[in-house]
Formats: sequence, C-alpha cells, structure tokens
Amino acid sequence: MKAAPLKILVTGGKGFIGSAVVRHLINETRHSVINVDKMTYAATEGSTQSIADSPLYEFEHADICDIDCITEVFAEHAPDAVMHLAAESHVDRSIDGPAAFVQTNLIGTFNDARRRH
Ligand SMILES: NC(=O)c1ccc[n+]([C@@H]2O[C@H](COP(=O)([O-])OP(=O)(O)OC[C@H]3O[C@@H](n4cnc5c(N)ncnc54)[C@H](O)[C@@H]3O)[C@@H](O)[C@H]2O)c1
Repeated sequence: MKAAPLKILVTGGKGFIGSAVVRHLINETRHSVINVDKMTYAATEGSTQSIADSPLYEFEHADICDIDCITEVFAEHAPDAVMHLAAESHVDRSIDGPAAFVQTNLIGTFNDARRRH
C-alpha cells in the first residue's frame, strides 16, 4: 500500500540544494510543496521554473526570521513535514557580515521549529 501524499514545507527552495529537492518532490513523488524563500542573493528565480505550474507547488516569498510571517505561513498551509534548507551558506561572506548568518541560521531555524507545532 502506498503512503498518503504529504504537504511538505521546504525553506530555501530557491537555493542550490533546496531547488533540487523541490524539483525532485514535484517530479518524482506525489507530495505537494510549499516553497518558502526570502529570495536573497543566493536564490535563483529560474531554478523552479520547470515545476512552477504544477498544482502541487506553491511559493511563499517570506523571511524565516520574520516570526509573524512564518506563523501565518504555517497556519495557512498546515504542512505535514518541514525540510529546512534556508541558510546563509556562503562561508566567505560570514567574515564581513556574520550577523546575517546568526539571524538566518540560528534565529530563523529556531522560528521554524517553534512555529511548527
Ligand atoms: N551546497 C552544498 O554542497 C551543501 C552541502 C551540504 C549541506 N548544505 C547545506 O544545505 C543548506 C542549503 O545550502 P545551499 O547550498 O542550497 O544554499 P544556497 O545559498 O544556495 O541557498 C540558500 C537559500 O536560502 C534562502 N534564504 C536565505 N536566508 C533566508 C531567510 N532568512 N528566509 C528564507 N529564505 C532564506 C536563499 O534565498 C537561498 O535561496 C545549508 O544549510 C547548507 O549548509 C549544502
């Protein structure tokens, strides 16, 4: 018996890893995806173009550090699972601007976790 399809919230789904995960979920599974991304310098708009018209795909332009916004997104979509791939990942930038890394990678991750329930 096949497991029921899930509603999966992917953060950072316009990034390198996240967009590959989103494309895989839409192309290869029956799960639906809510892609939450702030569209920073690291995001690639066209990375999800091939699946953008799927009825199983939705995009939310949101910052995971914005607790009110993330709470709304979780309340609206009530996801079954979260794949958290939003991050400040360009390590060379962390020397000149470490604050963004602390905000997104720590505070943003904490927001995701505490608003999930
Ligand atoms: N790239 C790799 O080879 C690799 C390998 C192992 C682990 N990882 C991990 O996977 C995760 C993603 O890596 P990546 O290479 O895809 O990074 P990336 O920089 O390509 O993408 C990050 C995405 O997160 C989004 N984002 C950043 N801050 C955000 C915020 N505050 N709110 C919402 N969205 C935000 C960006 O817009 C971007 O689309 C990271 O945790 C990284 O450490 C990456």
